[in-house]
Amino acid sequence: MSNDSTPGPQPGDFTEQLRASTTGLGLVWAQTTDGVIGKDGDMPWHLPEDMAHFTRLTSGHPVIMGRKTWLSFPDKYRPLPGRTNIVVTRQEGWGQTAEAEGALAVKSLDDALLESQFAPGHETVWVLGGGEIFAQTVDVADVAVVTFIDSATEGDTYAPELTYEWKLAASEPATGWLTSASGTRYRFTLWRRTETK
Ligand SMILES: NC(=O)c1ccc[n+]([C@@H]2O[C@H](COP(=O)([O-])OP(=O)(O)OC[C@H]3O[C@@H](n4cnc5c(N)ncnc54)[C@H](OP(=O)(O)O)[C@@H]3O)[C@@H](O)[C@H]2O)c1
Repeated sequence: MSNDSTPGPQPGDFTEQLRASTTGLGLVWAQTTDGVIGKDGDMPWHLPEDMAHFTRLTSGHPVIMGRKTWLSFPDKYRPLPGRTNIVVTRQEGWGQTAEAEGALAVKSLDDALLESQFAPGHETVWVLGGGEIFAQTVDVADVAVVTFIDSATEGDTYAPELTYEWKLAASEPATGWLTSASGTRYRFTLWRRTETK
């Protein structure tokens, strides 16, 4: 018999399941149904539930991002706490600038992946984007955790295409949408790449 006081599955439970079931190289992003992930150097939405999911998912693991994504975080949130923040740039000496404070700056994605293996929690490494970095890592990643946002907002930066080799492994909810306190509808998903690298 069901007990009305017992809460059903919560979005946070799904995040914990993902934490427990993902290893290797993961991509994590939020996108509109049209694939928009960014606009004017920022994300064109505010979804605290997704931020909580992102923080919980990636905490304790190294994170890799492009310089522009690093700079998209407000100063007070950089570096992302509890994670080795590896930032990719082709600019010589950028790592010594004030805006790089707290980042481990590297000159290539290969160097980023190498550095990640010396960081705490390296059994799972999360690529945080943005568009340029996702495009260069989608073919070597093992998993992708994608939040779909039911929004038609326009943007200038797009998610990578998850081609035939990517299969949907889990979704919260299984059908339909979750609804944010703000009214925005969203869905958490897990994708796995099935082809060998
Ligand atoms: N919705 C989401 O989940 C999400 C997640 C992340 C980001 N975003 C959004 O995405 C946008 C930023 O994405 P973006 O595509 O413009 O930039 P990005 O991928 O964050 O960073 C691009 C920069 O990374 C460096 N870079 C790229 N490839 C490299 C390589 N192979 N080797 C060395 N350095 C390399 C270059 O830095 P230098 O120019 O210094 O050489 C390049 O300018 C923002 O709007 C952000 O808010 C959204």
